[in-house]
Amino acid sequence: MTIRLGDEAPDFTAETTDGTFGFHDWKKDSWAILFSHPADYTPVCTTELGRTSQLKSEFDKRGVKAIAISVDPIEDHRGWAGDIGEVGGTDLNFPIIADPDRTVSIMYDMLHPGEDDVSSVRSVFIIDPSNKVRLTLTYPKSVGRNFDEILRVIDALQLTDSVPVSTPADWRPGDRVVVSASMPTEEAVERFGQVEEVKPYLRWITLPSA
Ligand code: BEZ
Repeated sequence: MTIRLGDEAPDFTAETTDGTFGFHDWKKDSWAILFSHPADYTPVCTTELGRTSQLKSEFDKRGVKAIAISVDPIEDHRGWAGDIGEVGGTDLNFPIIADPDRTVSIMYDMLHPGEDDVSSVRSVFIIDPSNKVRLTLTYPKSVGRNFDEILRVIDALQLTDSVPVSTPADWRPGDRVVVSASMPTEEAVERFGQVEEVKPYLRWITLPSA
């Protein structure tokens, strides 16, 4: 099943390291990051899950719940959790879904046959409070994800949801932003004050810091 931006994130019930629950029930009206792992007891995945545990306060600050998935069984996840805590220096602090029959992996198109048809690639879904999919990323098995980029894009999504602006290339929180294409320059001046119009379609503004 192909999941596109703007689609509702499919619901499912699954066994996880925090018990069996329905995804939407667990998520409630938070943001969420659902991300897949090829297999338990593998080096890159161990670093990624450790990094996510280390970043819990950053995810909490943004109202984001993390949930991982791997096709291995729950007993393996439980054993592996100890290694993740040991290697990352922080106990695993979010659930890992066990998906041995691949139900969720198939639902979210995490199995890419050209890579390997039994374990998932590294998919990321950022899902908003209304369960809408807002960002997808797909990495190969050999390349670990950049969790600073995941936080950055959550910051950008949350900012652009709250103010009629877009974030330019390589934007970081605090950098200047561009006025949404749909807002006329006169309206932007009225709303934001100083607007630097480089092109009629490229208008820079600096937002007051939060
Ligand atoms: C890893 O997490 O290190 C890994 C898993 C599957 C294939 C390649 C690398």
